[in-house]
Amino acid sequence: MSLLGFPDGFVWGVATSAQQIEGARHEGGRGESVWDRYAAGAGNIEDASNADRTCDHYHRWAEDVELMRWLGVGAYRLSLAWPRILPTGAGTPNAAGLDFYDRLVDGLLAAGITPWITLNHWDLPQALMDRGGWVERDTAHRFVEYARAAGDRLGDRVRHWFTHNEPWCIATLGYEQGCHAPGHRSPAEALRAAHHLLLSHGLAVPELRRIVRDAQLGIVLNLSPGVAAADTPADHEAARIFDGFFNRWYLEPLYWGAYPDDAVADRVRWGHLAGPELPFVQDGDLAVIAAPTDLLGVNYYSRTVVKAGPNGDPVAAPPVPQSALTDMGWEVYPDGLVDMLRIVARDYAPAAIHVTENGVAYPDPAPAGGVIEDPRRVAFLRDHLAAAHAAVAEGIPLQGYFAWSLLDNFEWGHGYTKRFGLFGVDFATCRRTPKRSAHWYRAAVAANAVEAGPAPARRSP
Ligand code: FCB
Repeated sequence: MSLLGFPDGFVWGVATSAQQIEGARHEGGRGESVWDRYAAGAGNIEDASNADRTCDHYHRWAEDVELMRWLGVGAYRLSLAWPRILPTGAGTPNAAGLDFYDRLVDGLLAAGITPWITLNHWDLPQALMDRGGWVERDTAHRFVEYARAAGDRLGDRVRHWFTHNEPWCIATLGYEQGCHAPGHRSPAEALRAAHHLLLSHGLAVPELRRIVRDAQLGIVLNLSPGVAAADTPADHEAARIFDGFFNRWYLEPLYWGAYPDDAVADRVRWGHLAGPELPFVQDGDLAVIAAPTDLLGVNYYSRTVVKAGPNGDPVAAPPVPQSALTDMGWEVYPDGLVDMLRIVARDYAPAAIHVTENGVAYPDPAPAGGVIEDPRRVAFLRDHLAAAHAAVAEGIPLQGYFAWSLLDNFEWGHGYTKRFGLFGVDFATCRRTPKRSAHWYRAAVAANAVEAGPAPARRSP
């Protein structure tokens, strides 16, 4: 069997987020997050669940560090719960919240695992939402206070920091499509939210650089190549429109210091903006947003195939015949990872790229003999790591890969109905069971390589 070997120093990790795994909603002085509030709303979560307990990581973190030590990963991408540190979004940081992360960081370091922190993985304190959330410019300044509190406490031991996770999801799903917290449906709000997220990133980066020793700083974006369903001018135009708001609305201000003119023009055409002037942008904002960074985190799950709808705007194309779909309904398309990384490296030249999330939800069988057989997840990970290897081989500065996720967890609007973990979680007991994919990932990490052929032919009963 031939092996695809990764360079020495390639970072192998796993990723989670606080809202999705911690639980302990009412402990340690934690405040309410927008996702707590949103989950309490009728009909917002598919299985009417919430994240009050979820994986109970808050109490079981030491066990989870042991799982990571067993996997052999060198890095763990976690997020801090903003409402644990600033329960009301402002004022004196909550000591118990900071103490929790202090212990966790020490536990990780003792296990030889480097923590990579994301500050905002969607759990805005509800108190800040009550004052307008990301629609309000003031929230950007509150974010900087939060970054400072976290950096002051952990920056002596944690070098790797991401400001936000997937600002597109926060702005578009949360403020425009209404299927994420806070559940608003206003395109105008979404544009303002996106800007204030980017602004807060740009304000926090120099602040963290001042505080954190040898800081490695960046942001995590969800990126997806837009592909025309048919080779027609109309479908290519639809793909351009998709790309303009999904990818470039974030990449261009961050790396070029300007919003994309074509995407702004689309928003004017749709009536979301009165004209090409963006009323929420103040003098100097774009220079702030383009603050130099060290890292770009790319979350990749699939490509996006679009076609022109009745008025030329992009609509999702029906699944490509013969394509395999995940439990999320997303097409399995590993080559899209290389396509996307190639665009990012060519157009924006980030100093270093890491795949900060990649993984898959499939329904899993019950544990048998101490393992959960998940051959399709093994194949998914192998194929995407082979794509990552191809990206490295062509000179793209891809330096690491974090599997999403360590554990099955609270999958936002889907509640507990979608399972992304390398470890299965029984949510009645919180018991963790390794999946076959965990064993497979452990072997890949140890070898710093994946096998070149198709996934092993092990099948579930
Ligand atoms: C990403 C999120 C992550 C998880 C995966 C499946 O958009 O960052 O929290 O929900 O999707």
